Amino acid sequence: MLLNDPTNKEKFRKLDEVLERYGRDPEQLIRVLQGAQDIFGYLPEELQAYISDKMDIPVSAVNGVVTFYALFSTKPRGKYTVNVCLGTACYVQGAQQIHDSFKNHLALKDNDTTEDMLFTVRSSRCIGACGLAPVVTINEDVHGKLTAKEVSKLINRYKKETAGENHEDKGPTRPGTYQEEAPTEP
Ligand code: FES
Repeated sequence: MLLNDPTNKEKFRKLDEVLERYGRDPEQLIRVLQGAQDIFGYLPEELQAYISDKMDIPVSAVNGVVTFYALFSTKPRGKYTVNVCLGTACYVQGAQQIHDSFKNHLALKDNDTTEDMLFTVRSSRCIGACGLAPVVTINEDVHGKLTAKEVSKLINRYKKETAGENHEDKGPTRPGTYQEEAPTEP
């Protein structure tokens, strides 16, 4: 139970601040949910019930919003959330193969988050960047005109980033500034 866990006290204090800021206005529900997800990382049923109670909105309505929008997650996410756009423009440019490639390379079958909690792979409708199709976002980073063949290199880049953080050596580039790596000898 999140509420009974003393380590969540500070998080609930921050959530209460968000709730105070937006009051009980149902039109602000999405903002409150975004704030809650930023604080907790996901929106489990217990948190939805807490928000429902504080905002005096039926929990079914809160749950309806959480399950409708792809940006919300009811399960803990990995450090990196990979979102593959499966809107029409991206789909016709091979987005499904890219999505499958992420799942295969990360050995994700029935679940969408890796056991080490590093990657969560999801898909969405059009994210409004059709000119870059097929588009994948990884957290705040946007990767356009991606191909299924580039997926493993991209995954490795983020893995290296994490390894670098763990060794306090971040290296010269960020993953978001994706660049082709020099071809290796066969
Ligand atoms: S269809 Fe993918 S960005 Fe529009």
